[in-house]
Amino acid sequence: MYASLKSIGSYVPEKVMSNADFEKIVDTSDEWIVQRTGIKNRRIAAPNQTTSDMGALAAKKAIERSGLDKDDIDLVICATLSPDHLCMPSTACLISDKVGIRDVMAFDVSAACSGFVYILSIAKAFIESGAKKNILLVGAEKISSLVDYTDRGTCILFGDGAGAAIISATEDKNEAIIDVHASADGKYSDLLITPGCGSTYPCSADMMEKKLQYIKMAGNEVFKVAVRTLTRDVVDILKTNEIKSEDVDLFIPHQANLRIIEAVRNKLKFSKEKTVFTVGKYGNTSAASIPMAMSDAYEEGRLKKGDLMLLDTFGGGFTWASALIRFGGN
Ligand code: UT7
Repeated sequence: MYASLKSIGSYVPEKVMSNADFEKIVDTSDEWIVQRTGIKNRRIAAPNQTTSDMGALAAKKAIERSGLDKDDIDLVICATLSPDHLCMPSTACLISDKVGIRDVMAFDVSAACSGFVYILSIAKAFIESGAKKNILLVGAEKISSLVDYTDRGTCILFGDGAGAAIISATEDKNEAIIDVHASADGKYSDLLITPGCGSTYPCSADMMEKKLQYIKMAGNEVFKVAVRTLTRDVVDILKTNEIKSEDVDLFIPHQANLRIIEAVRNKLKFSKEKTVFTVGKYGNTSAASIPMAMSDAYEEGRLKKGDLMLLDTFGGGFTWASALIRFGGN
């Protein structure tokens, strides 16, 4: 039995925040942001809109496109770094409820921007073992709730949104997830971190005064490790599976910074036509970045049944992951 990615869907909130909007709140410019990141706009969730609200809307689209009924889903996994609630209930439980999926296992995974590819590897294992048949995966983020809008080094980077996929059992190898590589190295944990609100710095007035509840990043150092790791990861997964880069139909990298994507793309010699770029319009949506990019490619007609996709992602932890997938949808 193989695991197949049968469908993909996404949701983006209505509100657009442009570089001009940031020029009004921090010392920055459209020119600097575009030159250093390639980002022009990001979507920002409404104040009363939660990560699970967005995740559920993306999930409904993915279920509809799969041709399955919500009652066919036997596992729900959500990847997020901005859950509705810090500890419980999990965002996956809330998404299940909003979609109307009852009495099935549901849980969250914390792997920052690599989260969606991490849960893809979990889904693959569940399906190949025969334990589950149709799994709903969601990458959803309301990162605007974790961003310090006075810190110009981070606030201009992030946006909100959600992407979802259905992974189903199949006997057809030509529509299977071929391989997923996922890894981590905690020695870099301080370079990209949300220090507060956990057991290290529990919620307190002092913690909030120090703004420890927000994302902190040593951007330049993260940048260098990201380029190195994203490149090495692709080389490894292609070599392990004896697949040539020219056989890849669509390269879908994590959308954190256009300069990172371009550095990796040039090293790996993927053409622009074969690469998906959404960072300019959505910014970095962390665990939602890869499924949102996949969904955009699908909606643009760039993803056909049997096409070979290569996913490549990197994030806080540090975590990183790549996947080779033959698209199983229509
Ligand atoms: O998703 C997880 C992975 N995340 C990433 O991969 C993000 C990786 N990092 C990056 O994308 C880039 O490092 C940034 C976009 C965050 C920063 O770009 P950079 O080219 O690495 O800039 P820098 O941090 O080295 O800063 C250069 C200068 C500094 O000024 P000084 O010290 O040279 O006077 C910063 O203060 O740019 C300044 N700066 C800004 N200037 C205008 C930093 N942010 C801004 C800003 N507007 N928004």
